[in-house]
Order: sequence, then C-alpha cells, then structure tokens
Amino acid sequence: MYAVAPAPSPALALAGRHFLKVDDLCAPELRGLLRLARFLKERPGREQSTLLKGRTVALLFEKPSLRTRVSFEVALTHLGAKALFAQGSEFAIGSRETPEDAARVLSRYVDAVVIRTHDHAGLERFARAAAVPVINALSAESHPCQAIADVLTLGERFGEVAGLRVAYVGDGRNNVAASLAQAAVMLGATICFGSPPTHRPSETFLAQLGRLGKPAGGSVRAFSNPARAVRGADAVYTDVWTSMGEERYRERNDAMLRPYAVTEELMSYAAPHAAFMHCLPAHRGEEVSAEVIDGPQSVVFDQAENRMHAQKALLVALLTECKGFPI
Ligand code: CP
Repeated sequence: MYAVAPAPSPALALAGRHFLKVDDLCAPELRGLLRLARFLKERPGREQSTLLKGRTVALLFEKPSLRTRVSFEVALTHLGAKALFAQGSEFAIGSRETPEDAARVLSRYVDAVVIRTHDHAGLERFARAAAVPVINALSAESHPCQAIADVLTLGERFGEVAGLRVAYVGDGRNNVAASLAQAAVMLGATICFGSPPTHRPSETFLAQLGRLGKPAGGSVRAFSNPARAVRGADAVYTDVWTSMGEERYRERNDAMLRPYAVTEELMSYAAPHAAFMHCLPAHRGEEVSAEVIDGPQSVVFDQAENRMHAQKALLVALLTECKGFPI
C-alpha cells in the first residue's frame, strides 16, 4: 500500500457494486472515483501491482473495441490482476444461454465481468443475476467508462468541472452523449446539446438530466442551431454520426448531421480556450474536420489515455474496500 496517511473515504464504498450507468453512482461517489483516478495516475504502474493481485476479470465483448479492451487489459496488468478476453460468438448475451445462467456460471470463476454489448436490457439481466461486479464497457444506452474518463479530462484541463459549459454536437441520443451529459450535470456543469430534432435527446431524458444536475447546480439545454449550442462553450464534444449496430441509418444520419460537423468555423463560436473532445474512433471530414481534431484545442488523446486511469479507479473501487488512499 502507499506510504501516505490512510484516510479511507466514506464516499467511496463501492465494493461489490455494478457499474452499468453513470447515475449508478451518486455525485460524491463520482467525485471520489475521480480523486482515486487522479491519485493512481500520479503513481507509476509498478507501485500499483499488488492492488488487485490474484484477481481475475473477464472481458466479454460482442462488438469491436480498441481503447476499451486495451485500456482495461493494461489497467488490470498494472494492478496485478489477470484479464480473460472473449469476443463475438464466444460470448453474446442471451445467444447460447440465458443472461442469468451465464452470469451465475461466470460468478463462480471470476472476480468481475466487463461487458460490451448492444443489448442494455440483457446486460441488466446479467448484472441482476451476477454475484460479482459487472461493468458496462458500452451498451446501446450508455458508455459510462468513457464518461468517467471524459470528466477526468475536463477536470485536468479546467481544474473544476462545476460551472463549465460543455456542448455536445451531433447525435444527442447516442450512448456517449447520454453518459457524458449525466456525468457533467452531476458535477455541476451545463450540457448544451446541438442536434436536429430527429437526433435530439428525449424530453424524458432531458428532464432526468435536469433533476440529476440540480443538487450540484448542473443544468441542460437543447438547441437545434449548432452555433447556439457551442456559443461560449468551454468544451465541444462530438462523436461519429452512426453508432455501431446502427449502420442501416448511415445515409440518413449523414444528411441530417452534416450541418453539425465540428469545423474551425463552428469552434470559433466557443470560448477561445475551448477544448475539442471526441471519444474516438473519429471520421475526419465527417463529424469533425482534420484541422480541429489534429489542432491545438484537441484533447482526444488525453481522453483516450484517461480511459485507463479511470478504469483502474473503477476496478479498485468495485473490487476492494479502498482502504489506504488519501482520497
Ligand atoms: N471510445 C471507445 O470506446 O473506443 P473503442 O470502441 O475502441 O473501445
């Protein structure tokens, strides 16, 4: 353990819990997780090698991944744990057996299960039957691991997430947008969606964000004009116009979302210090121009690196009592 005064945080009692959506955490837990991620990021990997010694975590991915798979595998290696990876036909929720049977079996073998699937309802069924923590590595509804890394990056860039104005431009209904918005408002930021009416978050979700943000002063606004969404923003975020599994809508999405591409012109409406954010993979010349994503305002590779630090914190928090950290 670290040579620092032990002061376990009562706000970070997450051992044994699942993490399927950002709002599975309360705001103090989210802040505690971010403090732990920053603490671990400041320590070289070698010092962390006993934190999860002897543990085994299954990574079950129905869909392709570069960042999520590799960052989880490296995080687990640094923490002294073993990662077991299965993909595609080896594992697809509900295809060979019920989610409940798969969850009960895996709970006898491993200490946690990380799942990437389209089927959020199947993931919830799996988690309800699992006796070990289940982590959502992306589902149709949410991408909470990405969101933790995103707010970690915003905190590094601006010192505080509270009070920031974060614009999300493009498909405001996708999983990345949903999780980012939840994390941002919980920490007291204002999230401004810039989307055509066809791609605007539902009124139900907007109302839920309003309630979620209220205690910390976070809020939500939705615009159909992209320049209005971006005006004065501290960060401008976008994602691919067509998510994995939605390829049949590609042509329609391209047509509807073209005016929402993040170009230098659109960035000029944001604050001069604004960061450009993207979860990656990106399509230059579609949702973002090469000048913006490869330019000085881009923090996309900080976001990608922070996936690993954020997921280390998550794994330590879900698999241990988090004793001995000065958080
Ligand atoms: N951002 C993200 O989840 O990347 P991968 O799909 O490569 O894991």
